[in-house]
Amino acid sequence: MKFFLDTAEIDDIRELAASGLVDGVTTNPSLIMKSGRDIFEVTKEICDAVDGPVSAEATALDYDGILREADKLYDISDQITLKVPLTVDGLKACKHFTSQGKMVNVTLCFSASQALLAAKAGATFISPFIGRHDDISQDGMALIEDIRVIYDNYNFSTEILVASIRHPLHVVDAARIGADVATIPPAVMHKLFRHPLTDSGLEAFLKDWEKTGQSIA
Ligand code: E4P
Repeated sequence: MKFFLDTAEIDDIRELAASGLVDGVTTNPSLIMKSGRDIFEVTKEICDAVDGPVSAEATALDYDGILREADKLYDISDQITLKVPLTVDGLKACKHFTSQGKMVNVTLCFSASQALLAAKAGATFISPFIGRHDDISQDGMALIEDIRVIYDNYNFSTEILVASIRHPLHVVDAARIGADVATIPPAVMHKLFRHPLTDSGLEAFLKDWEKTGQSIA
């Protein structure tokens, strides 16, 4: 399973990329707004900080407008994955670019039928938003299960990129289902490392080690 970071905060990305566990990054217009940065500058810095796909979202809604924005976004780096919305024009643009061998992430997916369309449009990644489903008392993870079954039935190569992750259990459940990628906010990524028994176990080991008076280094 690949781990992407779901943020445009360059300091967080650099810190977590140093762990060697980050396989890519996803951004969206809201994350760019939160970063306070220019989209082209920060996206270039993100591409330099990680090895792997970096999703940058087009904001035009019409096909020609998406194509115009895409040219500028793809120019930033070979790592750029164009993010398009799950609309007729978005999927048309998806087909256009993936048939040229470029990466496209279809975003704002909320149903299995939408995910099926994205796969038929040749999407590199489909982004079902599970947290936003959970927010309205619907089972976001059930959608991931459905998409996994459908994609496996037809051997679609589109990767399931679980988005709108809110907590570590979302990551574990997505892994259990066999999702290809989880895009994870930095705060949730930090929580994945933590367990109180790891902390207390470490503390006890270090106390006992001190009593031995020995040193390894
Ligand atoms: C990532 O690609 C999505 O844009 C993001 O995960 C959405 O998350 P949110 O529902 O927390 O805004």
